[in-house]
Amino acid sequence: MKTKGIILAGGTGTRLYPITLGVSKQLLPIFDKPMIFYPLSVLMLAGIREIAIITTPQDQPQFQRLLGDGRQFGIEITWVEQPAPEGLAQAYVLCEDFLDGAPSAMILGDNLFFGHGLPELLKSAIQRQRGGTIFAYRVADPERYGVVRFEGNRATGLVEKPQVAPSRYAVTGLYFLDGDAPARARNIRPSARGELEITELLETYLAEDALDVQIMGRGFAWLDTGAHASLLDAGNFVRTLTERQGLQTGCPEEIAWQQGWIDDAQLAERIRLFSRTAYGDYLRQLLE
Ligand code: DAU
Repeated sequence: MKTKGIILAGGTGTRLYPITLGVSKQLLPIFDKPMIFYPLSVLMLAGIREIAIITTPQDQPQFQRLLGDGRQFGIEITWVEQPAPEGLAQAYVLCEDFLDGAPSAMILGDNLFFGHGLPELLKSAIQRQRGGTIFAYRVADPERYGVVRFEGNRATGLVEKPQVAPSRYAVTGLYFLDGDAPARARNIRPSARGELEITELLETYLAEDALDVQIMGRGFAWLDTGAHASLLDAGNFVRTLTERQGLQTGCPEEIAWQQGWIDDAQLAERIRLFSRTAYGDYLRQLLE
C-alpha cells in the first residue's frame, strides 16, 4: 500500500500569544511563506500525494483558503478536524478512515527540516516495510522534547520532556509508522497532562524491536518555531539561505512541478497569482 501523509496543525499556540490569539501558529510566516508550506514540502519530497491536514475546527477555513484541495500542487488534501488538542497520537485515531490500513508519514505542522539528502532519507524510511522510523537530532536543550535513551548505539527508550535527559537526541516531529498505528493509538490512555502521547505510541513499536531510530546528522537543520525568538530565527535562516543560493526551500509548487505532478500551464497559473513577489519570480525562472 502507498504511504499516506498527515500534517498535524491543530493546537492552541499559547506559547506564541498574543500572535496566535488571532491566527493559527502554522499559518504564521517563516520569511516568505506560511509555516505549513515547509512540512507540506517534506511530505511531497517523500513522494506522498495523499495528505490529511488536521486543524482545529475554527482555524480550518483559513487553511482551506490557503491550500484548497491541493490540486495546485498535484496532491489530494483531506481535511480533518481535531476539536481539542488531546495529543499527537490522537492524529492516528482521527485519520483512521483516511489511512484505511495504509502506512503513514506524519509531520508536525510547525517542524522545519532542511538538509542535503533529505529526499533520500525520507524515501528509505518509506521503504521499510514493517514497524516505524523516527529521526533523532542532537539539540542543546533536549529537556524540551521527546528524548531517546541509548544503550551503546541501540535505542532502548523514549522519554517525553524528561527532567534529566538520557541523551542529547530529541525525537523530531516526523514519524513513519505502519498501518497498525491507528489501532495502537486507540489503546493508549491519556497521560497526566491529558494527552495521547506520541512517545507512548512509539514505545509500543520499540518494545517489539520494530522502531528504527535514525540519527539525523549535523548536516541537517531541524528548526524550532515554538517561541517568538526561535520563530524569528527560523525566518532569518530561510531568508539567509534563499537570498544566498537563489533557491527556494519549502516551495510546494517547485516540488510538484519537478515531480511532474503539475504541468507548465498549472505552474504558470501560480506565477500569475504571485506576479508581485520574489516567490513568483522564482517560479518564473523555473519555466525559463
Ligand atoms: O517537535 C518535536 C516534539 O513534538 C517531540 O520531540 C515531542 O516528543 C512531541 O511530544 C512534541 O512536543 P511539543 O511539546 O513540541 O508538542 P506540542 O504540544 O507543542 O505540539 C506540537 C505541534 O502539534 C504544535 O504545533 C501543535 C500541534 N498539536 C499538538 C497537540 C498536543 C496538535 O495539532 N494537536 C494536539 O493535540
